[in-house]
Amino acid sequence: IKLGILASGNGSNFAAVAQAIENGQINAQIPVLIYNNPGAKAASRAANLGIETVLLNHRGYKNREALDQEIVQTLRQHDVDLVILAGWMRLVTSVLIDAFPHRIINIHPSLLPSFKGLHAVEQALQAKVTITGCTVHLVCLEVDSGPILIQAAVPVLPEDTPETLHARIQIQEHRILPQGIVIAASQLQTSLTPLSDGQKCYL
Ligand code: GRF
Repeated sequence: IKLGILASGNGSNFAAVAQAIENGQINAQIPVLIYNNPGAKAASRAANLGIETVLLNHRGYKNREALDQEIVQTLRQHDVDLVILAGWMRLVTSVLIDAFPHRIINIHPSLLPSFKGLHAVEQALQAKVTITGCTVHLVCLEVDSGPILIQAAVPVLPEDTPETLHARIQIQEHRILPQGIVIAASQLQTSLTPLSDGQKCYL
C-alpha cells in the first residue's frame, strides 16, 4: 500500500509512520510527502529518509480548490492509495475528498467530537476536563468529523500548560496513527458503502 503524507510543520507524526513502516508494523511505502510551508521540519525529516518531497505552497494558489487540484495530481502521479494528513493545517475541499473517497486519514489532538478546530489542546484546558486525548479518523468535508478509526485517552494534570499537555498527547498520537492506518488499510480491502447523508464521507 502506498501512503501519501501531507504535513505543514514539525512532522513528528509523519516520523512515527515512517518508523512503523521500518519496524514492519505497517506494510506500506511512502512515495511522497507534500508540504505547504517552506522550511517545514517534516520536509527535512522526509529528505533524510530518502522520501521525495513536494512543496505546494498554498500562498501561490487562487483558492483552496486550486491547491487541492495540484495535491490530487501529485498524489496520483505517485500512485497513492491512502492520504495521511499528518499535521496538515489547511482545510481540505471536495476536490481532494472526491478524488480519494474514504481514503484520507487525519490525526487530531482531542477526543472527538469534543474540541474540534485549531486550538483543541487549549480548549481542553479551558473546559477543565480531566481526560482528553487524540483521534484518528477518516476525513469528511466538515472539519474534524468523519468516522473514527481509533482514539487514545490522555490525563490532564493540574499543572499542565498547552505545551506539556500537547507533548503528552503526541506520545499517544505517535502510537495510534500507525494503528489507524492499519485499520483504514484493512477496510480498503472490503467493499465500502457510501453513507446516504449527502456528505462526502464514507464508512
Ligand atoms: C498534531 O498534534 C496533530 O494532532 C495535529 O497537528 C499536530 C501535528 O504535529 N493535527 P506533528 O507536525 O506531527 O509533530
